[in-house]
Amino acid sequence: MAKPTVVLLPVWGAGHFMPMIELGKRMLRCSDGALSLTVLLMPAPTAQAVSDIAEHVRREESADIRFHHLPSVPLPADHTGVEEFISRIVESHVPHVMSAVSALSCPVAALVVDIFCTPAFDVSSALAVPAYVYFASGAAMLALLLRSPSLHEETEAEFFDDSAVLDVPGLPPVPPSFLPATMLDRKKSTYTWFVYTGRRYTEASGFIVNTAAELEPGVLAAIAPTVYPIGPAISFPAAAENNPQPHECIRWLDAQPRASVLLLCFGSKGILSTRQVHEIAHGLARSGHRFLWVLRGLPLDATQGAREARDADLDERLPDGFLEKTKGIGLVWPKRAPQKEILAHASVGGFVTHCGWNSVLESLWFGVPMLPWPLDADQHLNAFTLVYDMGVAVPLEMGGRQEPYVEAAELERSVRSLMGGGEEGRKAREKAMGMKALCRKAVEQNGSSYVSLKRLSEDVLRGAIQFE
Ligand SMILES: *[C@@H]1O[C@H](CO)[C@@H](O)[C@H](O)[C@H]1NC(C)=O
Repeated sequence: MAKPTVVLLPVWGAGHFMPMIELGKRMLRCSDGALSLTVLLMPAPTAQAVSDIAEHVRREESADIRFHHLPSVPLPADHTGVEEFISRIVESHVPHVMSAVSALSCPVAALVVDIFCTPAFDVSSALAVPAYVYFASGAAMLALLLRSPSLHEETEAEFFDDSAVLDVPGLPPVPPSFLPATMLDRKKSTYTWFVYTGRRYTEASGFIVNTAAELEPGVLAAIAPTVYPIGPAISFPAAAENNPQPHECIRWLDAQPRASVLLLCFGSKGILSTRQVHEIAHGLARSGHRFLWVLRGLPLDATQGAREARDADLDERLPDGFLEKTKGIGLVWPKRAPQKEILAHASVGGFVTHCGWNSVLESLWFGVPMLPWPLDADQHLNAFTLVYDMGVAVPLEMGGRQEPYVEAAELERSVRSLMGGGEEGRKAREKAMGMKALCRKAVEQNGSSYVSLKRLSEDVLRGAIQFE
């Protein structure tokens, strides 16, 4: 008889697609070959995502991992944020997901959907298939989403206007400046979709979270639903795919002293204005610390949800004379960079990050302390967790939420604090090294995440349903 299959519904974004495939592969391994995977692919809205996904499919497709392309649907043209953009696309896909799942000839063990794909719960409830959310962010963000329907009902005021701090289970009180942007304007439809997601979470059989019990113990203890902390699930390229010729960034790092280099990287969608880029340049130069700065170009298409950074023209983006002035202590890299390899390098001693959850996990995995520079989505809450819950980061003052902007002097101050000999930096380094040990222990055989993954595989196998 055909093996029961776990149906995955990932979204196309770089920070979501691969982590979900990685989760699926870990579930397969943990089930000792009892499960298979069926991945439903929604057509990606950007050329970059289309080609990235095609490459992953070529690499991962096998007898036990099958990919099913869903037809295209019209993209929402008038959305007010990425939460709404994704949810509405998924909503249009519901009939296609329904026919794909009900046509499967093998037993269906579970439907696992991405964070904002809860409209697909219509399918799991109609077919009585257990539904899970793969939460590719931290437990803190999950706690906030679970809490959002009641927060919405408790007050009619804007969370932004409220000078009071927010109570999120298991976290220290959260000031409004650390809430996701989508919560800061209740009139926008993306906010409505955010609360919608929180409401639909009550239908989930469980939440699979890319965190480890030891990383967020307070939050995990404080939330009620069934949670499987299975992380950090980080995908590393197979050894055979490693280019024998080291990347130029790695060769440059090889020549730098141990733990001396500050990495700056803002993610695949992290685009900074020219004014902000100049301010960073001045701050870095004044700090005197070594740096590797991954600087991307402004996108051609500014449509939200379809934005992608391009390779940068450094002469155009940087202040005159900056490259000459910092020659020898800094490298500015204008393209995509191998972030995991860079973080793994002994010369890296700190990370200015946009706080995308995958970047956070990679930094913890390699024990690199952070300087959080959140831009969007869950990143502000992640920054809050890093500084005020985990203590692995030094805070950076970003000015107001409406027009966040980091002054050169503030960057200089915080870089010195993180990279210099002071108390604040020393504490963050120590905590980050502690987290590195916890992360590695969690995923070892019999570690907390390993045990959780085992339990998940057993639970989904028990729930398998045959349609044909
Ligand atoms: C994990 O637990 C099993 C069952 O208790 C035991 O047989 C095995 O040796 C353990 N493995 C490690 C690496 O501790």
